Amino acid sequence: MTLIARAAIRQLTTRVSGAASAVPTSARSLSVLVRSPAIVTNLPRASLCRTVLTFNQHTRGLKTIDFGGTKEVVYERTDYPPQKLQETFKNDTLTVLGYGPQGRGQALNLRDNKLNVIIGSRKGPSWDKAVKEGWVPGKTLFEINEACEKGTIIMNLLSDAAQSKLWNQIKPFLTKGKTLYFSHGFSVVFAKDTGVVPPKDIDVILVAPKGSGTTVRNLFLEGRGINGSVAVYQDVSGKAKERAIALGVGVGTGYLYETTFKQEVYSDLYGERGVLMGAIQGLFLAQYEVLRAHGHSPSEAFNETVEEATQSLYPLVGANGMDWMYANCSTTAQRGALDWYRRFYNLNRPLFEELYESVANGTETRRSLDKNSRPNYRAELEVELAEIADHEMWRAGKAVRKLRPENQKQ
Ligand SMILES: NC(=O)c1ccc[n+]([C@@H]2O[C@H](COP(=O)([O-])OP(=O)(O)OC[C@H]3O[C@@H](n4cnc5c(N)ncnc54)[C@H](OP(=O)(O)O)[C@@H]3O)[C@@H](O)[C@H]2O)c1
Repeated sequence: MTLIARAAIRQLTTRVSGAASAVPTSARSLSVLVRSPAIVTNLPRASLCRTVLTFNQHTRGLKTIDFGGTKEVVYERTDYPPQKLQETFKNDTLTVLGYGPQGRGQALNLRDNKLNVIIGSRKGPSWDKAVKEGWVPGKTLFEINEACEKGTIIMNLLSDAAQSKLWNQIKPFLTKGKTLYFSHGFSVVFAKDTGVVPPKDIDVILVAPKGSGTTVRNLFLEGRGINGSVAVYQDVSGKAKERAIALGVGVGTGYLYETTFKQEVYSDLYGERGVLMGAIQGLFLAQYEVLRAHGHSPSEAFNETVEEATQSLYPLVGANGMDWMYANCSTTAQRGALDWYRRFYNLNRPLFEELYESVANGTETRRSLDKNSRPNYRAELEVELAEIADHEMWRAGKAVRKLRPENQKQ
């Protein structure tokens, strides 16, 4: 992505969050690298919400954004107030299947937007959680078949593996005129592996929030909205796009970027295996272990690898971009970073190509379906997760985090 494109996204994020980028902060001055640690937003919640409301009144109609020379249409929440959503879906029953992070976050937001929403879940932890959060068995909470029967819009927020496993059970309820909704292109795009081929006479749409369901819910409660992608796979009614956008706002997004099912799933699988999760853990670990091998203490290795990154530099990069970061660090750091990023780039570019290919040819999907559908999936997963959690780096991290001022008991 070009610097200009990033600047456009930052501008939108700033508008959505109401972040006032000129507000100085004194709290995040941990880094000796940073010459001018001035620009991370650190507004108290109340003033943040006030800023959002004021700002939104002035940004209605914002639609086409120039992302580094490419113009893209972006839909915004302010054009879909709750009354409009209620009018759009006044004849619908929205069935949210699954009450995992996304099912929960999206369903609660829909409920708060006063839409007619019910949950479909199997009995177990999700069902129990839904009951605790006010969904009433027999009224707003049902077993999956009954919920599908009642719904006119079936929002499939089961785990991706369960979407494939339960497809033959759900499919008979997807009758003419209904809408099928996903938050991931996974099941439909990789139909050869998942078996999920929607009937031809229904609308099929996607809204994929760019973050976990917990963030979807929390940002909504703060009066903000998470960024999301919106796509249409089948438009039988002629209204699929408009309804997808409205539903996206209903579930709690602030800005919706247009995509396709295929582009959404490719970029999502690629990103989480890459810089969002896989690559970053690999880099953290490699840097930490080399420091330890050369006699640095765990605290020093952790601080220099993770703590300074997440507490000082990444918030600044998030607020202002890496271009700003490079221009606003010590000349020593600047020289080293300019020289070394190219070497990391040269080494990693082929690996990212390999990763993209592995996503595009379905290898990642098949592996995920295979691993996550096994009966002993939980137990196997726990072993792998424990390996990460038990590593000295993240154990050292626990101790370092306890020392943060906000975690010190008074
Ligand atoms: N997490 C994210 O950041 C994110 C972001 C955007 C989109 N999405 C997409 O949103 C969808 C939901 O993801 P998620 O993160 O909310 O949670 P998830 O962990 O993928 O799904 C959890 C839900 O699926 C249910 N489930 C699993 N196996 C089942 C089975 N065999 N029968 C019936 N129910 C079953 C679980 O019920 P039990 O509690 O009973 O097991 C739980 O309610 C996925 O398509 C995902 O790709 C996720």
